[in-house]
Amino acid sequence: MKLKIDDVRTRFIKHLGGEPGSVYASPGRINLIGEHTDYNGGFVFPGAVEQGMIAEIRPNGSRTIRAYSIDLKDYAEFSIDDKKGPRASHFRYIFGVAREMMALGVPVQGFDTAFAGDVPNGAGMSSSAALESCYAFALNDIFGDNKIDKMTLAKVGQATEHKYIGVNCGIMDQFASVFGKKGHLMRLDCRSGEYQYFPWNPKGYKLVLINSCVKHELVGSPYNDRRKSCENCVNAIKELHPEKEITTLREATWEELKEIEGKVSAEDIKRANFVLGEKDRVLAVCDALEKGDYEEVGQKMYETHYGLSKEYEVSCEELDFLNDVAKECSVTGSRIMGGGFGGCTINLVSEELYDHFVTTAVSKFQEKYGKKPIVINVVIGDGARKLC
Ligand code: GLA
Repeated sequence: MKLKIDDVRTRFIKHLGGEPGSVYASPGRINLIGEHTDYNGGFVFPGAVEQGMIAEIRPNGSRTIRAYSIDLKDYAEFSIDDKKGPRASHFRYIFGVAREMMALGVPVQGFDTAFAGDVPNGAGMSSSAALESCYAFALNDIFGDNKIDKMTLAKVGQATEHKYIGVNCGIMDQFASVFGKKGHLMRLDCRSGEYQYFPWNPKGYKLVLINSCVKHELVGSPYNDRRKSCENCVNAIKELHPEKEITTLREATWEELKEIEGKVSAEDIKRANFVLGEKDRVLAVCDALEKGDYEEVGQKMYETHYGLSKEYEVSCEELDFLNDVAKECSVTGSRIMGGGFGGCTINLVSEELYDHFVTTAVSKFQEKYGKKPIVINVVIGDGARKLC
């Protein structure tokens, strides 16, 4: 994490006064493959990044949270007993996490806090999950004797998105932020909650993100509509096969999708087609990784991009352009990363091609859109933790 404890501490003391508190951090994430599969009970393949959120926290003996956002230079006070909470979303994440921790029986009290982050906002790298996981981890440590297990902490962040922000997200981002491990990607089965760490050391390749700087915004976005389409398909299958145990598209087959044609919209079917394909692709990538077959991994990434763009329709012109440039430069794999509607492409590129690709992508993008995309080299880092 590039953010320094000292920087946060100086601002904490300046804006909140008194003695130092404890400092916690939690990262953003990348995802190699497995997009929009988490809320469909499928697999995801994320890893934590070095960039994240950092927060200084000190109990203040009251029932009030006094919070200062260092990046936005914004201050607010709100009671943990008030059901509505603050309006600004950067404070609502903290409020939501505190309320969810209280609902789990953690005796949360008021606290003073200052926070900052270096996950680019709107890049699809989960800056909000980083913030939620940072506070969930910290409040568990400060007020809860660390009695809440890590998966429940991830779910606290997810519930905050659902109830306080209005994004019906899956568990991937918060899971990655809490469970991240330096040098490792994680394969999570979102239905069972089982996960496995995979050492990530692709000899001869690099992972690089190209941020289109088109702001990806899931609040009020068609993200929830995509989820709804998947649920429509599940319900239609259930109606045709009442005996079948099916709660998500994880349990659906290609034949069943064919059977419900005409019972749900063609658009819903198109969305579900992507999800079924993506389920298979994650497993194919796991096999390929075990064999060290990065060409196959890259091929699946291109297929995912195609599906996200043409079937799930969460791409945008700029991201499709970056994907085309990657193809032209013979990059091994490239696709939209995260929820879509803007943000980054993730690219698996051989070391020999790296310089050529990055220079070409930046100059072509600038030529076409009149602004520079941002290049972010991926370093896989650790999950939520106490710094001091
Ligand atoms: C967002 C959501 C995640 C996941 C991805 C798409 O990042 O928060 O739960 O659905 O989109 O894979």
